[in-house]
Amino acid sequence: MKRTHHCNELRPSHIGQTVTLSGWVHSRRDLGGLIFIDIRDREGRTQTVFDPSDLAKELFESAAALRSECVVTIVGKVRQRPTGTNNAKIPTGEVEVGVLSLEVLNMAEVLPFPVDDPEVSSKVNEELRLKYRYLDLRRPEMTRNLRLRSKVATATRNFMDEQGFLEVETPILFKSTPEGAREFLVPNRREPGTVYALPQSPQQFKQMLMVAGVERYYQIARCFRDEDQRADRQLEFTQLDLEMSFIEREDIYALIEGLLKRVWKTALNLDVPTPFKRISFEEALNRYGIDKPDTRFGIELVDFTEEFRTSTFKVFSGAIANGGVVKALNAKGLADATQGQLETMTEYAKSFGAKGLAFIKVEKGEWKSPIVKFFTDAEKAALTSKLKIEEGDLILFAADQWLTACEILGKIRLYCAEVLKGKGLLKIDSTQFNFLWVIEFPLLGFDREQNRWYSSHHPFTAPVAEDVPLLKTEPKKVRGQHYDIVVNGVELGGGSIRIHQPDVQKTIFEDLLQIPADVVQARFGYMLEAFRYGAPPHGGIALGFDRLCAILCGTTSIRDVIAFPKTAKGTDLMTDSPGTIEPKQLRDLGLELKAPKIE
Ligand code: AMO
Ligand code: AMP
Repeated sequence: MKRTHHCNELRPSHIGQTVTLSGWVHSRRDLGGLIFIDIRDREGRTQTVFDPSDLAKELFESAAALRSECVVTIVGKVRQRPTGTNNAKIPTGEVEVGVLSLEVLNMAEVLPFPVDDPEVSSKVNEELRLKYRYLDLRRPEMTRNLRLRSKVATATRNFMDEQGFLEVETPILFKSTPEGAREFLVPNRREPGTVYALPQSPQQFKQMLMVAGVERYYQIARCFRDEDQRADRQLEFTQLDLEMSFIEREDIYALIEGLLKRVWKTALNLDVPTPFKRISFEEALNRYGIDKPDTRFGIELVDFTEEFRTSTFKVFSGAIANGGVVKALNAKGLADATQGQLETMTEYAKSFGAKGLAFIKVEKGEWKSPIVKFFTDAEKAALTSKLKIEEGDLILFAADQWLTACEILGKIRLYCAEVLKGKGLLKIDSTQFNFLWVIEFPLLGFDREQNRWYSSHHPFTAPVAEDVPLLKTEPKKVRGQHYDIVVNGVELGGGSIRIHQPDVQKTIFEDLLQIPADVVQARFGYMLEAFRYGAPPHGGIALGFDRLCAILCGTTSIRDVIAFPKTAKGTDLMTDSPGTIEPKQLRDLGLELKAPKIE
């Protein structure tokens, strides 16, 4: 019995037709001698009715034995539902199928959790959902996510193809290279003692494709990073990775704006206005305290360094004398913040090394704070006017080095927004998407502990041309030709124009990053050599494909858009991976493993 329709297809126009449907028993009700079974397949569901007067006795009995999630095929006649029994919630809700015959394809045991009721299943513990992921994915919400992901991938491929990009696959077995995160290593049986590494991104290969003359490359590429897992991070994840030759930053901006416009239209039928706004790294930190600002709400940071330079409040003037700044923000309407909330915010400040978090509550016309007594009238007036202080406000301060002060308040700003949302004082429209290019990042950061420079993005990023002379004198001031694309506070992607001159690349590796020449040669020698044989100027970007899909699906966890994600501990609960291996496998690899610790 081959299905004639899927379970989301039948409408009043089909009334009178004999149809065959296959799927899972979604729900079942026994009413007045009749059995009502909703059959579900990937597309949707249809109500079927088993009537003992239409069916052979044994068929009716097997229908009576069906329970949720059994797999069936039925043949039946489409008919109008009796008056008053239409179900407006489903597209097939005006009709039902009067069953003439039933084939039970497989029985199902009682499931560890129900998949037919969004109310219940959304509350199921995530570990259980991951252990039985094949059941979890039967839930219509999860099916919708997989479907949307597939649609986005197709729209992306179509768009990239129209733009003249070639889809090229690059190796998964690669070699160890310092590009940021810790790597996954794969021992090599053929030469014990040597290892492959899984790629953190196709970065080096895509640059080689540019040297190869491919000009426009893209790939929906799997990447591997052994870093701490969070809601927006997985050990293995997917990038939409691309690279172009003979281009400048503006070309990448225009390409990605076109792509995201297409994707938002395809997935959500929303028109995204372009071009996107741009903000420098410095301005993003100054105003929002983070390099991936959520600009859907204000609560901006305000600088008070000049006002407090000579203040008698030593926490502030002392920080400034130390080369630092004083910054503040006004969490409007949060004067009634609880002790617990203030403690949480103070802990944030302390996690950045601050001693504490000064604040003022504006209640009953008074500024309540132990530090107000140190403020002069002029200082109070400056606070009032620049922060627009009113009754009910909560003012929070950070006095520290510039970056630290910004980051403390950046974190507190996001926390306050969550609290305000919870109180209904901040509303954000779910169809608002604030895209933003963050540009002019510093090329290098300085690691105080290790006393050396590191690349803010990666070592292949080109410096802004006019800043190149500063590389030797003031590396800190050199801006990189790096850009990030941010939406609603999520770093969706990042990329850069690359170095294509072997001498500049060598300077970055050896003089600035202080990688010993022999290590540079071993790790990147092939790249430096390739650049000597006619490397075109090139640049590119990678978008986090899981993050992109999560945003489109309206979820904060990328696990919801990955078919088989790993837990926070990096395990796959369904297959119970990672696992142990046989002694013979170890011998072949020339490896010895320490037994796992049993806790
Ligand atoms: P970058 O390291 O910024 O750049 O990565 C690009 C984008 O990939 C996503 N991403 C992740 N998504 C899920 N889990 C992770 N662990 C994870 N790590 C990163 C983010 C991020 O913005 N080769 C460069 C790109 C280039 O220069 O062209 C690169 O990989 O959304
Ligand atoms: P103290 O004089 O050290 O007791 O600090 C006075 C107030 O300033 C307390 O409320 C501290 O939490 C706060 N404070 C201390 N260090 C900082 C800082 N770096 N930035 C902002 N507030 C601070």
